[in-house]
Amino acid sequence: MTVHFIGAGPGAPDLITIRGRDLIAAAPVCLYAGSLVPAALLAHCPANARIVNTAPLSLDQIVGEMATAHAAGQNIARLHSGDLSVWSAMGEQLRRLQALGIPYDVTPGVPSFAAAAAALGAELTLPGLAQSVVLTRTSGRASSMPASERLAAFAATGATLAVHLSVHVLNRVLDELTPHYGADCPVAVIWRASWPDQRIVKATLATLDRGLANEMERTAVILVGRVLGAQTFDESRLYAEDYDRRFRPLGSDPRFPEGA
Ligand SMILES: C[S@@+](CC[C@H](N)C(=O)[O-])C[C@H]1O[C@@H](n2cnc3c(N)ncnc32)[C@H](O)[C@@H]1O
Repeated sequence: MTVHFIGAGPGAPDLITIRGRDLIAAAPVCLYAGSLVPAALLAHCPANARIVNTAPLSLDQIVGEMATAHAAGQNIARLHSGDLSVWSAMGEQLRRLQALGIPYDVTPGVPSFAAAAAALGAELTLPGLAQSVVLTRTSGRASSMPASERLAAFAATGATLAVHLSVHVLNRVLDELTPHYGADCPVAVIWRASWPDQRIVKATLATLDRGLANEMERTAVILVGRVLGAQTFDESRLYAEDYDRRFRPLGSDPRFPEGA
């Protein structure tokens, strides 16, 4: 039997993959990681499924649930918010499952930074302005940051930053970033991207209301970079008339020429 780790997406229940939805629908046990996983997704569970919110459980208890289901020959749908590749605590669960010889697989989900960018209608990599996106955070109670991964170090590259888990320390974020990006650099805070109560504040590093740090709702991504709202940037060469690309070699008309 298999533990299916599934990225539940950023909040809107229709932003899960079809594969993820079908795995939930077929699993007699569903473990979900608290309130960031939308309740509507649990409606895909089979009628008599065992559904457990793991937010109050320890790692031992969560793995215990998995081991019990495995011993009973039951597949498990394990839901985490967004995508599993960042801040999901999946790594420590996989390590335990490996030690126990319990099979697992991973189905990706829409990460919150992508939902935040979509809410803005923004591309985070614009030619000539930024070609990299740094997904990062500040240190928190559960996880400290490696010494070399300072916001200022990332900011020095000029890449677009997507700062997670940090709206409550907004002052610190703004203070560390401003010397590198400049006070007039655009910033956007997106709370609960794709949820019905999604909220967006756009400003510059100088003008952003620092009082937002005191708001109760902390499920937010802070996007920072010159790409936000930019109108002056290069066009990519991808669609240029004179660009010789694999699917449309120069001198050929069809978009997908035979044999390409
Ligand atoms: C524990 S991390 C989970 C990240 C998740 N695995 C992902 O792929 O984005 C929780 C943080 O992700 C961000 N986050 C998650 N869902 C969000 C959403 N719908 N809108 C804005 N930020 C979100 C916030 O920074 C939040 O504090």
